[in-house]
Amino acid sequence: MKDRFLRACRREAVDRTPVWFMRQAGRYMPEYREIRSRHSLLDICKNPELATIVTLQPLRRIDVDAAILFSDLLLPLEPMGIPFDFVRGEGPAIENPLRTEADIDKLKCFEPREALAHVLKTIRMVRVQLEGAADNVPLIGFGGAPFTLASYAIEGGHSNTFALTKALMYSNPRAWHRLCDMLASIVGEYMKAQIEAGVQAIQIFDSWAGALNSADYREFVLPHTRRIFDAMRGMGVPTIHFGTGTAAILADMRAAGGDVIGADWRIPLDEAWERIGYDRAIQGNLDPTLLLAPLDRMLAGADAVLQKANGRPGHIFNLGHGILPTTSVEHVQALAQHVHRYRLAHAG
Ligand code: CP3
Repeated sequence: MKDRFLRACRREAVDRTPVWFMRQAGRYMPEYREIRSRHSLLDICKNPELATIVTLQPLRRIDVDAAILFSDLLLPLEPMGIPFDFVRGEGPAIENPLRTEADIDKLKCFEPREALAHVLKTIRMVRVQLEGAADNVPLIGFGGAPFTLASYAIEGGHSNTFALTKALMYSNPRAWHRLCDMLASIVGEYMKAQIEAGVQAIQIFDSWAGALNSADYREFVLPHTRRIFDAMRGMGVPTIHFGTGTAAILADMRAAGGDVIGADWRIPLDEAWERIGYDRAIQGNLDPTLLLAPLDRMLAGADAVLQKANGRPGHIFNLGHGILPTTSVEHVQALAQHVHRYRLAHAG
């Protein structure tokens, strides 16, 4: 197996810096758009044959060191009793957002091995395909952290201010903690089920946790996210903890858990690593919009990230957030190649 991604998660020496990209399967690829022209996003997520094809699409074109399961963060909401859909061009839309404590009282706990069995089937199918491939890369599974999941359930979709989410958190902490406790139990169990099905690493997305200051993160979020990492402990699978706008809370995210901490592009990688501590690995952190720049500008940005990692074991190259739909496939290919050509001081 091509193991430099897993080795870097464990901060072991590697021959080349490993690289993969958030949203490496997605609309920037013509073959993804072709499937999407015939199937909705939820159809693809719920159909193991289609989800397997899409998971493997980027591996044919781009020299990445890991595959990421094609699924969506929001899938656990529906079996909890929070149905949603994806509206073209607008993102997720939750039918009946949570607004009161009574709404939270009505939510259901569920067994992910039953309600999300299709995701687990996709994992098993992808692993069979990867193991038969010449270039066998590890498969990353993922789930959402309670703050980010709760924010969609409460706001009803994307938000810039998280006003409704924070209003509930501050005005009814008991209801907030009950909701997050339930989300943590479900996601913890779901992550265990993904590992049993065969994923070789797990990324927990707390995409919007950067909306909180450190004290609020520690009071309202950290204990819940920590329960998800605790649930996975001892399963032998490295964990990644990622969010955006998190410069002020990197040390708190580290305290919540994760063998690897993901940083976005707003903070220089060396500064982020210092805040996280060198006893954890780091993932990041090129600005995804730099992939829209001329090639030389993009590659100079990549070099700056690699130089800041300074050859220290435990750097996984990635973007600071997902690949944008208008990105050219050629730029993504060139970027992965460039990262692999970069000579690490300690490597041959
Ligand atoms: O390649 C991969 O990274 C794996 C697939 C993946 C998807 N969603 C498929 C998807 C992953 C890891 C996710 C996680 C996810 N989903 C997150 C966390 C990561 C992040 O972006 O911060 C969040 C917040 C969601 C919820 C979600 N799904 C939103 C807000 C949107 C709309 C925004 C957008 O990019 O259009 C989605 C839609 C979605 N999920 C797409 C993909 C490839 C968009 C493409 C489409 O509609 O076909």
